[in-house]
Amino acid sequence: MLALLILVLLINKSSSHFLHDSGASEDSSSFPSIITPRHVRIQHTDVTTHSDIVIDTYTPHFSWQLGDEFDDEGDLVRGVKQVGYHILVHADVSNQVMWDSGYVHSSSSAHILYAGALLTSDTRYSATIKYFTVQRESQWYKAHFRTALFSLTDWSGEWIGSNGINMNQLRTVINISNTIRAATAYISGIGYYQLYIEGQLIDKSRRLDVGWTTYQQRTLYTSYDLTDVFNATGPIGIGIVLGQGWYNRQQWAIGLGARTELSDQYGPPRVLMQLNLNYTDDTSQSVVTDSSWLGREGEHRYDSVYMGTTMDLRVVRSCWSCANFTDPYPLWINASILPSPVNFTAGGHLSLQTMDPIRIGPDALHIATSGRSGLVTGVNGVSVTDGGVIKPISKDSVNGQVFDLGQNFAGWCKLTSLKAAKSTIIQLRYAELRYSSGENGIDFKGLYYENLQSIAVMDTVILNGTGNETFEPLFTYHGFRYLLVNGYDNIDKDDVECYNAHSETTLIGNFTSSSVVLNQIQHNILWSQLSNSMSLPTDCPQRNERRGWMGDAALSIDEVLYNFDYVNFYLNFLTMIADNQTPDGAVSDTVPFTVGTSPADPNWGTAYATITWYMYEHTGDRTIIEKYYVGIQAWIDCLTGKYVQTGLANMYYNYGDWAAVQQTKNASLVSSYAFLQDVHTFINMSEILNRTDNVEKYTRLYQRLADEFHRVFYNTAVSGYTDGSQTANILALALPNVVPASLRTTVLSSLINSILATGYFTGGIVSIAALYPLLSNEGYHDLALKLALSTSYPSYGYMFHNDIQNATTTWEQWNTLPTQAGSSLNHHMFNSIGAWFYQYLAGIQLNALNTIKIHPRIPYDANLLNHIEAEVVTIKGAVRAKWTRLSVESVSLSVTIPNNVDAIVSFDALIKNGRCMKLICDDEVFWMREVMDNELRMLKNVHGVSELTENQSTGTISIRVASGKYTFIAYWQ
Ligand SMILES: *[C@@H]1O[C@H](CO)[C@@H](O)[C@H](O)[C@H]1NC(C)=O
Ligand SMILES: *[C@@H]1O[C@H](CO)[C@@H](O)[C@H](O)[C@H]1NC(C)=O
Ligand SMILES: *[C@@H]1O[C@H](CO)[C@@H](O)[C@H](O)[C@H]1NC(C)=O
Repeated sequence: MLALLILVLLINKSSSHFLHDSGASEDSSSFPSIITPRHVRIQHTDVTTHSDIVIDTYTPHFSWQLGDEFDDEGDLVRGVKQVGYHILVHADVSNQVMWDSGYVHSSSSAHILYAGALLTSDTRYSATIKYFTVQRESQWYKAHFRTALFSLTDWSGEWIGSNGINMNQLRTVINISNTIRAATAYISGIGYYQLYIEGQLIDKSRRLDVGWTTYQQRTLYTSYDLTDVFNATGPIGIGIVLGQGWYNRQQWAIGLGARTELSDQYGPPRVLMQLNLNYTDDTSQSVVTDSSWLGREGEHRYDSVYMGTTMDLRVVRSCWSCANFTDPYPLWINASILPSPVNFTAGGHLSLQTMDPIRIGPDALHIATSGRSGLVTGVNGVSVTDGGVIKPISKDSVNGQVFDLGQNFAGWCKLTSLKAAKSTIIQLRYAELRYSSGENGIDFKGLYYENLQSIAVMDTVILNGTGNETFEPLFTYHGFRYLLVNGYDNIDKDDVECYNAHSETTLIGNFTSSSVVLNQIQHNILWSQLSNSMSLPTDCPQRNERRGWMGDAALSIDEVLYNFDYVNFYLNFLTMIADNQTPDGAVSDTVPFTVGTSPADPNWGTAYATITWYMYEHTGDRTIIEKYYVGIQAWIDCLTGKYVQTGLANMYYNYGDWAAVQQTKNASLVSSYAFLQDVHTFINMSEILNRTDNVEKYTRLYQRLADEFHRVFYNTAVSGYTDGSQTANILALALPNVVPASLRTTVLSSLINSILATGYFTGGIVSIAALYPLLSNEGYHDLALKLALSTSYPSYGYMFHNDIQNATTTWEQWNTLPTQAGSSLNHHMFNSIGAWFYQYLAGIQLNALNTIKIHPRIPYDANLLNHIEAEVVTIKGAVRAKWTRLSVESVSLSVTIPNNVDAIVSFDALIKNGRCMKLICDDEVFWMREVMDNELRMLKNVHGVSELTENQSTGTISIRVASGKYTFIAYWQ
């Protein structure tokens, strides 16, 4: 206790000393003398991008980044480390101290669990945080948060809607009797809702809310702080608009293999709302949805997520949600009480939507990266950093007016300045391609609808004839690049504005290279990822599908977490996976479970373990593993039960190595791969949680499976696995301890020879995720790069070098028309290569943010690639790596390591069997190979650099660096 006190005193002393000094300095403004916690997070939500943070847990966790420190010369200090922190949590109204952590001696600055008094529902709190480094003490940083309704008994409203009419506008009037201290709304409207107060849409960029769930198991609600809105006494009108969304039979019944038996569970839209008003005189009032609300069918005549929407502007009632509104027509009837969508008796939940909503425009994408903005030179499309509003780049006429938006994406278009007679009907159609071959092969360049499969995608508006009308579709979205407008002769390009819609997120990654091909692949990855982030990871945004296919999500998760802060989004998805898990441990191919099977194909079910694992890898948050650990174990035990019946040789499967050029003849091997992967991941999780019992148990299981895998699948006739396909050999080699050491070179040669003989990769979505890391790890990095840089069929580059389309998103298949006429041009299941970009080309490996690794793989052939620049903004700060090949023998590497983090930086041989001869840091030689004794002695101490080691077999040189910025040059011979 005494020691701590002394430490605090010392820290106080040194910091005040520093303040004094810098205050006297001439140019103190150029280097801040004050340090403050930055990017404070409550749970996983960053307060700098979220002004209103709502939590649904009694034990939130807090994270922050350490501010930069500067020395007396104004230079960035390296090796800034936290030695302690202090957190206070107060209740806002009473100012009661809920938690005072006291000074905690700890280097930990992430996921610090609240350990104070019991938090209560609908209450506002603040967290005040400071930290200490060896030299300094930070300012306090105050962040606000509030709590949701923790218990069902906190709710008093009813679900309302109508079984009789299409009641999609509902209204009521309340009376504010006093001065408001706090006004808080809790609302769930399903399928979708929008909230209006006195004619104003609350939260203008929010769309398609609440998120799609298996409603009977879990329906999400959201919350708004409306204190500033209810700022005057008197009557106030509240209005709610409802859409069908996914709470609609059609959404479940359309499409091949849809589980129509579930569609009966859904019906007309409904809403539950509770508005808690706290007055300054300590009285309070709750306004809730009940049968006194009035409803009608508004101008919104028809809406379907798939098919589009029909809007009749003739029946718009201006200010219909205002208190003073009177309708000349008696269209409004009392709302009916409808049953709750949640099946509480079966354990269902009404829970707070803790992920961000779907949004449009600049609010949808925050930018955390410091690097470029706008499009990288040579890349085709629209930059994701451009603000989310997309304008046509060209217009012409084929069957109507066709607009090219220059980018494939998910969303819709708005038309403005419409001037035509009353009852004019205008139709908007959307497509990814302009292509239509007529009977005689005539190319009409009309819109291509075949890959929309069984749906007709169309938004329709009926004008009121009042001039200057505007139409924006609601409660629907489309996947498209081209817009066709019918029924209105002359729409100006300026009167078309399109919105790309996706779950709100922050761009945290930047990856650019000297290769236009890689840059275009990265661009396409970002767009196909955003297009498929619609409250859950969908497979595609355009056709009658858009399901939460688990396999796709498992394959792209690592890439996603390098590019976007989608932690809350995937936590929501994990919870839905857990919701769908049956008592026998089975998880389903799709979540919500709409198509496919349960138990899922093992490569689809792997999403449960894989997503959990990568979330931990990218955030270091152990509680994520803790939360899903038992469920993941149950899934593995379910797989084990299936395996016991068949052995690996006949392991069940649904899809094999999906979308392969040549499907392997043995899909049981592909399923076995996922099973072994999951067991292996589970062993890693058990180690993190110190579950030695499970480490032992599942290690034994893994060894048995690894032996069996080799025994039943190895085929001496092909010096490889099963049919000797690339898929089979890749998957076997990618699994730890499956291929015996004595055979590894043989199998690897079979694989390499096959790739060289065919000239391309022949597998599908499962094996390509393993292919690139495997080649880079096994000494074939140049070959991996050649495959990645290829633009001939089949390759990523072919998607934007072909006669049909210059793709701006990743395709579903290696091919498109004419062989794959019905396939999507906007899928994310092939996006796994994006993780290899960051991890291998830039070399950034996050390792749960403990000790980061920077280990770029650089090709021997300097002509393949000579420059990479990458950044990942983590919870602890920005990690940057940038390398440039200076010559055949030398490379420069600049790295930035965030405060409170260490990194191992590794330099690979630039020349086959080469040896590193010299290392320079910031223009000074700090290491040189001593020719005489071949010792690895540092010539010079560089502040922040330590522990130089050399891998004798590969020649790789590694050093440990503390936080800060460094520029190295390595010379090889
Ligand atoms: C409103 O008042 C209730 C009852 O006093 C209290 O429990 C709740 O925390 C208050 N909410 C806010 C946001 O002030
Ligand atoms: C009704 O209230 C709205 C604002 O709440 C106001 O803009 C409008 O002018 C009012 N209409 C009438 C007829 O008073
Ligand atoms: C009350 O809220 C409205 C809507 O947010 C705002 O326009 C108005 O300025 C506020 N008035 C006061 C007195 O704060």
